[in-house]
Amino acid sequence: MTKNSQQERNWWKEGVIYQIYPRSFKDTSGNGVGDLQGIIQKLDYIESLGVTMVWLNPIYESPNDDNGYDISDYRAIMKEFGTMADFDELLQGLHKRNIKLVMDVVVNHSSDEHQWFQQSRSSRDNPYRDYYHWWPAEKGKPNHRWSFFDENSDAWKYDKQTDAYYLHYFSQKQPDLNWENSKVRQEVYDIMKFWADKGVDGFRLDAFQYVSKDITFPPFPEGYDINIPNVIKYHGMGPHIHTYLKEMYEQVLSKYDVFAVSEGVGSTLEDAHNLVDEDRKELQMAYHFEATDMVTTLEKCTLAQFKESFTKWDRSFAEKGWISIYLSNHDQSRFVNRYGSDKPAFKDYSAKMLNTFILSMRGTPYTYYGDELGMTNIGFTKIEQYKDIAAINGYKKAATDGEDLDLHLKNLNLLSRDNGRTPMQWDDTNNAGFSSETPWLPVHENHTTVNVANQQNDHNSVLNHFRKMVALRKDNLLLVYGEYEIIQEEHPTIYAYSRTLDDEQMKILLNFSELTSKINLSNLVQIKEVLINNYNELLIDKNTITLQPYQAVVLKF
Ligand code: GLC
Repeated sequence: MTKNSQQERNWWKEGVIYQIYPRSFKDTSGNGVGDLQGIIQKLDYIESLGVTMVWLNPIYESPNDDNGYDISDYRAIMKEFGTMADFDELLQGLHKRNIKLVMDVVVNHSSDEHQWFQQSRSSRDNPYRDYYHWWPAEKGKPNHRWSFFDENSDAWKYDKQTDAYYLHYFSQKQPDLNWENSKVRQEVYDIMKFWADKGVDGFRLDAFQYVSKDITFPPFPEGYDINIPNVIKYHGMGPHIHTYLKEMYEQVLSKYDVFAVSEGVGSTLEDAHNLVDEDRKELQMAYHFEATDMVTTLEKCTLAQFKESFTKWDRSFAEKGWISIYLSNHDQSRFVNRYGSDKPAFKDYSAKMLNTFILSMRGTPYTYYGDELGMTNIGFTKIEQYKDIAAINGYKKAATDGEDLDLHLKNLNLLSRDNGRTPMQWDDTNNAGFSSETPWLPVHENHTTVNVANQQNDHNSVLNHFRKMVALRKDNLLLVYGEYEIIQEEHPTIYAYSRTLDDEQMKILLNFSELTSKINLSNLVQIKEVLINNYNELLIDKNTITLQPYQAVVLKF
């Protein structure tokens, strides 16, 4: 079974990323909003997870139209979160623990309150005018472009001051920067250097596939249908994206021991490869949305689709290029609700099973804060409960379009981003140990049982299962680089695969269902060790393994 890895070794391939949504992690200032001192206070906890990198969602100065993804000063810390001195202390504290820091870089757009935009909108001949995309009104209304967060899905906003429209793929307060302008690109590289000089170790490039676009803004082709690949194709992945990335690589990335991961990978597998192919010297890692995008309705996705997606992406990146493995982040609801079950009997088993999955696939694993405890959706039922602009404006649009609003609310209840942004559950006290004051988003009522204090010393807890899996991954390069092969792809309830490197092999068996499920494997006598099991027992009878609901095992052969 000798399978040698073709992949070059790198620390960012061998690491485990823990994503922190700073607003919701730990509040020390008593304003109901998490802050940098809060993360500093929890550094020992983060270290105890075994993770090797932390990715922080944006912490820069921002009016918070989209919770920090609308930046008004790229070199300042959001006041609610603290100061630059807090940042320096945090970085030092992480590095002391051998944990690297990955920063979010949001440069497809800025805030409309950024001084560049303030200047740009002030007059047509302002030197900053070309920092953004403007369409003079005398040319008529520009061709339609789709906006993710606009209540009319219209990415063009008329601005009276200069009688022109500006482009915003996200909210009206997030105008798109004009990457065609070399001055804009230089500003971005300088910002990245500012942070790299401080010692940050990686960058997550937000919405990066949209930076290069056809700025003639032609009409969409006949029969154009709004779906994700089309949105990407006609709004992003423009002719110059690779030129910009090479430039960024030359000016910034190649000068430091850092990596950059792009959010989004274009609309085809080829696009994805071209972004992260090591020989091209552009980006180092990418994450695709296919598996998370499959859950867009209450129907969720089938196990067959899930397996097909992960298998396809693995095959495609087996030899070259590197991807991330994640099931949730700040743009998703909790993974237990989407791929597992939050029923009391299955909640913990399915959380452990999903963490086993993320940490046993090829690709760099990303864990979103709280998933190590099995936190679940808060499940709002009324639109007034939401804080997220995507939910609020999406609902307005649904109302304008005459959609079934009850159904819309049910979808939000399962899928809205606020589900994944509720405060971290540290203990069973009133505000879950997150804050002494009312948190900006309510704490989940299950914090009385699902919390760090409760799980810390229970060796069967979701938290300690997570720690075991992280340790196993860090001890076994096989789990990082080993070849992945799917086993019995057609099995209706079990996702089984092997990982092989040199003469070592592991088999991972995951029951993705509430049903007791059996799988026949030929060489069970050769099992050397059961490395991971989220139940106390494993039923093996000759060639048959029986898995309990959401049982997850890692077997060494
Ligand atoms: C990315 C972020 C998302 C944000 C959007 C606009 O998709 O992940 O949270 O709202 O970009 O910046």
